[in-house]
Amino acid sequence: MTFGDNAHAPPAAWDAIQARTAALGFDMPSEAGTGALLRLLAASKPGGRMLELGTGTGLATAWLLHGLDASARLTSVDIDPVVQDVAREHLKDERLRFVLADGLDYVRAQPPGSFDLIFADAWPGKYEGLDETLALLRRGGLYVVDDMLPQSNWPEGHPARVDVLVERLASDPDLTVANLAWASGLIIAARR
Ligand SMILES: C[S@@+](CC[C@H](N)C(=O)[O-])C[C@H]1O[C@@H](n2cnc3c(N)ncnc32)[C@H](O)[C@@H]1O
Repeated sequence: MTFGDNAHAPPAAWDAIQARTAALGFDMPSEAGTGALLRLLAASKPGGRMLELGTGTGLATAWLLHGLDASARLTSVDIDPVVQDVAREHLKDERLRFVLADGLDYVRAQPPGSFDLIFADAWPGKYEGLDETLALLRRGGLYVVDDMLPQSNWPEGHPARVDVLVERLASDPDLTVANLAWASGLIIAARR
């Protein structure tokens, strides 16, 4: 292994999910650096409750799942059955639950303080319903977003939305935040 190789020891299903992702033409996949960090963060929460908003085809789901201990649990939510079915097919584990739903509806149905880690990788939880999503974090819980560095698939007007999100998280007195120029650009925030 060379330093910086974060595809080292990937989750067992990761290669197969990548192949399915490419075949589908799914153009919003998380990269290995994001996955490796998510796995590490999930492993730092033994017995924790983790939430992914935006399953996609399950790339980050696979890394998160790889970091869970025996008693931790992961819920992954997506509105699109076609992409989520790839994840359902490749990731069968009793600690993992898939939910086919609108992310914001799901967030609004959860009690506050119910998660130790939230990877917000869909519009809801990131650019919509941010306050409700942050309210789901337990004390010490982590909120993670990627794609904070300019991406080729950003729609017009997106940089301004990113700026608002960066500022909103940085100025929240209940959060401590690290902005990382890592992979596609990550923010990790912890609830104080
Ligand atoms: C950036 S992709 C997720 C990538 C995935 N986490 C990965 O690791 O590759 C965003 C996902 O959000 C889903 N999505 C879009 N709108 C949504 C909504 N309102 N509620 C839930 N999921 C939504 C899309 O179907 C898409 O799969």
